[in-house]
Amino acid sequence: MCRTGNAGVSTTLSDDLSARRAVQFAPDVYWVGALDPTLRTFDIILKTANGTTYNAYLIRGDDGVAIVDTVKLEFADEFFDRIESVARYDEIKVIVLNHLEPDHSGALPELMRRAPQAQLFISTRATSMLKALLKPKDQPLPYTTVGTGDCVSIGNRTLRFLHTPFLHWPDTQCTYLEGDGILFSGDVFGCHYCDFRLFNDLVGDFRFSFDYYYAHIMRPFKQWVIEALALIEPLKLNMIAPTHGPILRDRPRRYVAHYRELSMSTLAGRLDDDERSLAIFYMSSYGNTARMAEAVYEGADAIPGVRVSLYDLEGGETDPFVDLIEEADALAFGSPTINGDAVKPVWDLLSSLTVVSLKGKLGAAFGSYGWSGEAVPMIEDRMRGLKMRVPLQGLRLKLIPTEEEIVECEEWGRALASELVGARAAGRVVELADLG
Ligand code: FEO
Repeated sequence: MCRTGNAGVSTTLSDDLSARRAVQFAPDVYWVGALDPTLRTFDIILKTANGTTYNAYLIRGDDGVAIVDTVKLEFADEFFDRIESVARYDEIKVIVLNHLEPDHSGALPELMRRAPQAQLFISTRATSMLKALLKPKDQPLPYTTVGTGDCVSIGNRTLRFLHTPFLHWPDTQCTYLEGDGILFSGDVFGCHYCDFRLFNDLVGDFRFSFDYYYAHIMRPFKQWVIEALALIEPLKLNMIAPTHGPILRDRPRRYVAHYRELSMSTLAGRLDDDERSLAIFYMSSYGNTARMAEAVYEGADAIPGVRVSLYDLEGGETDPFVDLIEEADALAFGSPTINGDAVKPVWDLLSSLTVVSLKGKLGAAFGSYGWSGEAVPMIEDRMRGLKMRVPLQGLRLKLIPTEEEIVECEEWGRALASELVGARAAGRVVELADLG
């Protein structure tokens, strides 16, 4: 019997929660997680307006019980109370950890102590994390590594594994309960949103939390999201049960479609197939770096097959540029040097890029300076730190560019665009500051 209704919060659900009992939401499938309503910051950087949940699940088959994920250590008592309300530890045959981040693995060592006969199933990449999780006093945990297509049964119930790495750590996987069509999705489709009504058709409006979570946790790994969706979309989906936030039992496919939408490029389609995009961002204090930026733009724009865009960071906030940067093939940043540093708007933009993957993109830096010109190498270091390619030596100019130097800026722009389309002459290095 499923003990929650669609019309409102049943007395049974609130009773179960306050009494720390398991909450049944499909035949012999239970939520045994924990609520953390007072949390306001998760993993240092993620804000949450009303806390989060650590969702864990219990499935009963006719040959034993399976537990999918555990909870943060501080909430272990609540988790064990819920398990004990519907099962004995000696019935647990299978424990699945979809993700070993401590908010889901905190109670695992204790669970394994209480159910020593159980077999643990994790992804191959989770093994090193499992070792790191255990304290010296802990017994080594027996485990089996699994990948896409592997299954484990507890009699009449079968759990099938889907390899979905990097969502949100390298170890992550999803687990699909066949027949019932329930996807235990780990962090995928999750959000930091705590609501004691538990189910997406009962809780408040959590769209903001869902998109915020995607933007900060999944977005840097869009390519892996797309690969995971290729595994998930063909499944019969009656419910999605993530590790955080509401259980998605009402129209779960809407959330899959939303992930697909969020993961697709918006720039694609606006460029020809063989066209590449270069975005140039700059900030200027006396107009010198701006003049350089315009000349770089002119030079790059002369190379066929490159769509060049020029943005003055004084003209707006950095947030709207993150989408552009994510989808650009190459980026150039221009900054003057002030007090031995690049200027704040440039750093603000560069520091906002942790939510997107820039690995392998072409990067370059330029700028005018008065004394020492540290801004350009500092920006280059940051780009390398973001795993960008920085093959072209940065372009630095002392104070006001001369007409000759403007021509050199145009050449530098051409060299950058040519590098982007694979046509740059080998060995070309431009460093105007060294010419004077
Ligand atoms: Fe909810 Fe990536 O842990």
